[in-house]
Amino acid sequence: MAAEEVAPPGVDISTPSIARVYDYMVGGKDNFEVDRMVAQRALEIVPDGLEAGRACRALLRRAVRYLAAEAGIRQFLDIGSGLPTETNVHQVAHGVDPAARVVYVDNDPSVLVHGHALLAGDGTTALIEADIRSPETILEHPVVREKLDFTQPIGLLLFSVLHHLNDGEDPGGIAATLRDALPPGSHLAIMHFWDPAEEHPETSARVRESERVFNESLGTGRWRRRAEIEAFLGDFELIEPGLVPLAEWRPDGEAVAEQKETYYTMLAGVARKR
Ligand SMILES: C[S@@+](CC[C@H](N)C(=O)[O-])C[C@H]1O[C@@H](n2cnc3c(N)ncnc32)[C@H](O)[C@@H]1O
Repeated sequence: MAAEEVAPPGVDISTPSIARVYDYMVGGKDNFEVDRMVAQRALEIVPDGLEAGRACRALLRRAVRYLAAEAGIRQFLDIGSGLPTETNVHQVAHGVDPAARVVYVDNDPSVLVHGHALLAGDGTTALIEADIRSPETILEHPVVREKLDFTQPIGLLLFSVLHHLNDGEDPGGIAATLRDALPPGSHLAIMHFWDPAEEHPETSARVRESERVFNESLGTGRWRRRAEIEAFLGDFELIEPGLVPLAEWRPDGEAVAEQKETYYTMLAGVARKR
């Protein structure tokens, strides 16, 4: 650990955190030596990892803009929201409607420490510390109930969070509990590590290696098959173009991140509850 690094109160910098490793990957500053070491190991396997980080955030912006501008969504539940970064969900949503409401949820204390940057200061946004493995706690949380009206469509954002649950933690059941709580017209947007074994077998070996490194260093990280990821959407109707590599989901003309090694290692999609 570098001598100058000081942990904010309540933040453990002796072990790496998913939120802070990702923060490094998307060009943030709220990470520590222990996190950068994990990121460097990942970058040895996927040299375009920083481009992948850019692609993730660009996808998030496009999906939230689609939900607000085209699907008419005015309230968002963003679980596994991550550390504040350049453009956050509420800023994208407020670009369409300044009254749009967003509740951010994360279980990493680092996110709470830096979370003030996630709050618009006008009562439209809130941040709670909670764990997706207890979806009922999130759904019943007083802040969630205060900010979000469960009789009106909600945009549920599960961006790069379900792949941090291992199979024994029942990610399918958790996704179903969350979906079931939403009223018709709600949307689920998802981004997930993908093992493209059937479609791009040449990429699968690298994916297995990434999974090994993530699990050794972070204790988490599952690259799932397309059918497993699609199952998280339940009977929601997939919006065009379906579940696709990040760059292919409704490109908007913004410069596309140059993903090479990681192009076929993540899928994103949006689906609507009938
Ligand atoms: C890879 S980051 C994704 C951040 C953001 N959603 C994005 O796509 O840019 C994953 C986030 O999920 C959070 N996370 C991981 N496991 C979680 C859990 N069990 N409950 C809530 N959040 C979790 C991590 O702390 C981290 O901030």
